[in-house]
Amino acid sequence: MLKYWIQKDVLNQPPYKVKTTSYQIKLNQNESPWDWPIDIKESISKSILASDWNRYPNLIPMELKKKIGEINHIDKNGVVIGKGSNEILQAVFTASIRSKDTVVSLSPTFAVYKILVKQKGAIFIESKLDSNFEVDPSDLISKSRNAKLTIICNPNSPTGSLLPLSVIEKVAKQTSGLVVVDEAYVDFSNVTAVRLLLSFTNLIVTRTFSKAFAMAGFRIGYGLMHNELASEIQKCLLPFNVDVPSIIALNALLDHSVEVQTRAQKICTERDRIISELNTIPGLKAIQSHSNFFLVSSKYTPENIFNYCANNGILIRNVSSYKGLEQYNRITVGTHSENNTLIRILKEMP
Ligand SMILES: Cc1ncc(COP(=O)(O)O)c(C=O)c1O
Repeated sequence: MLKYWIQKDVLNQPPYKVKTTSYQIKLNQNESPWDWPIDIKESISKSILASDWNRYPNLIPMELKKKIGEINHIDKNGVVIGKGSNEILQAVFTASIRSKDTVVSLSPTFAVYKILVKQKGAIFIESKLDSNFEVDPSDLISKSRNAKLTIICNPNSPTGSLLPLSVIEKVAKQTSGLVVVDEAYVDFSNVTAVRLLLSFTNLIVTRTFSKAFAMAGFRIGYGLMHNELASEIQKCLLPFNVDVPSIIALNALLDHSVEVQTRAQKICTERDRIISELNTIPGLKAIQSHSNFFLVSSKYTPENIFNYCANNGILIRNVSSYKGLEQYNRITVGTHSENNTLIRILKEMP
């Protein structure tokens, strides 16, 4: 009966999995290694306690839209807020993609895009990264030209590579479709397509508070775009999608953006330190990155490295099932002492 009830695309879709083991150090999901200080958490908790749990939130969190608009120097009506940037991506697909439409993205890239494409019965066209994980601009631009939607993760996950804005600009200019730039990791690259929003009404920039902003547990993200486009995308989010605790927490935490930027800088310094340390280990190769994670390959299989780290209490991400990453694990940058442990464990590897 499942075959009758459930669409074939869904039946054929493998479940989204994140392999987990017991760990002391968690370096597998590109989260911030630092939680918010306890006094800030207590003050937010008090506000959540004082809120009416029996009441819906405002239909649209206008105060947050205004703040996010101000931070990004764009009109508040061009801001759409969702339960994580994943929900914004889903709304964009719902608004724009139907069966047999074409969607272009990079390969390898964030796995959720393909899931959304398949669920719509759309056609996924991949622009393959080269052996240095760089984009071939002419391939991307030509494939995007007639695509209904092009989605570019910048910096890209899981590779950590960065596409110059000039290429994104050309894609936006030459395509007849929409272009989404997923900037989940923008705080670590400081390269943003936001200024292109002034010139391109077919452009959407998505952001998350789950990474540098250390709010993955709350589930909140947003999209920036032209006002008219925002009104249409908003229609594809279900009413009251953003919950009261997330709104309260984000309203408070946005006042600490400077601290977030300082932490992001620390992560970048640590990232470069770990990569150069790991590259002194014979048989191990760590790839330069513009994000808070990086790829590692070695003379051992990715599974061997994953298990070796797991046996030493460190959880990393085996990404070898991604096309083009058959040799790789992905490691998130942790705290200074977590990173020291990682480096020591890998140096001790027999
Ligand atoms: C590239 C990319 N985009 C979007 C997301 C989704 O983030 P959110 O937690 O805001 O849904 C992630 C999460 O890992 C990601 O890596």
